[in-house]
Amino acid sequence: MALYLITGIAGFIGSSIARGLLAQGDDVRGIDNFSTGKRDNIAEIIGRIDFREADLLNLNAVHDACRGVDYIFHEAAIPSVPKSVLDPLGSNQANVDATVHLLVAAKNAKVRRVVYAASSSAYGDTPTLPKHEAMPPNPISPYAVAKLASEYYMTSFYRCYGLETVCLRYFNIFGPRQDPTSQYSGVLARFITQMLAGDQPTIFGDGTQSRDFTYIDNTVEANLLAAKAPASQAAGQVFNVATGARVDLNETFQLLKKIIGFKGDVKYGPDRAGDVKHSLADLSRTEKYLGYKPKVNFEEGLRRTVEWYRGQQKAAKA
Ligand code: UD1
Repeated sequence: MALYLITGIAGFIGSSIARGLLAQGDDVRGIDNFSTGKRDNIAEIIGRIDFREADLLNLNAVHDACRGVDYIFHEAAIPSVPKSVLDPLGSNQANVDATVHLLVAAKNAKVRRVVYAASSSAYGDTPTLPKHEAMPPNPISPYAVAKLASEYYMTSFYRCYGLETVCLRYFNIFGPRQDPTSQYSGVLARFITQMLAGDQPTIFGDGTQSRDFTYIDNTVEANLLAAKAPASQAAGQVFNVATGARVDLNETFQLLKKIIGFKGDVKYGPDRAGDVKHSLADLSRTEKYLGYKPKVNFEEGLRRTVEWYRGQQKAAKA
């Protein structure tokens, strides 16, 4: 049986991958410093995983965590464009320095493959849609630069040391357990929880910006596929992970209004610094080389996510 290490295991995506691995009977080790992760996210699986509370900037802890590991899913990050605009140094430490630590330790421990949570933000505002992996990157925010730098580190470790790496460029992942409480939280987590509470959400800009929102189950599947794809097709490569359809924020608000039964309206605020206007993925390479096809579409994903937050709200009131 293989041993998997998940960095950022207490995060929304890391904890979801952990559940996916446990469901297929694999052994899971996890590391998290709880900078953005939550104990609640791993509360029900903590007895079944080897959990270590540690920071990836602590190289000794990372060496320890990599010992005996077959595959790594590197999800730990400070995942926010606006936060990186306010604190580029902090973003660089968490999103780049931590990655290099992990790669050095993974190489020393002879880990078979590292699958990395890269970001669609690497494309920036390149005018061409959909975004294809062969397009030259054009990052805008410090966050996007950091995520792209880590991608290059991944590929470099494959080329220089033969450590197999696969970069998955996530396109706006959403779903149950995404933290809605910070001003830096993803827009869907924010909108859904605000609307369920009867509060008015805010659209930054005119709401015509569009995203290829991706439901978490699709993301988990892409990771499991990336770990097992033949090295000749996946090692040292970069792949988009998305739904392959885009929706703008005005349409998204209308759809949520219908699903939630929200009676209020949305308000509009100023554009957000570092924002990308449109985002849509070309999935042909991911389909061809990883065998990935998104199974849950945007609307179904929204319904499941609304249901989950509704359940959380009810449980909190009970
Ligand atoms: C970006 C990346 C995404 C990455 C994420 C990490 C792009 C295209 N996407 O997401 O791959 O995973 O960073 O955080 O670069 N908004 C509102 N009201 C709100 C909150 C947000 O209108 O209350 C708007 C934002 O201005 C933006 C859109 O919603 O236009 C999406 O924002 P957000 O969910 O924060 O993600 P991105 O910055 O697109």
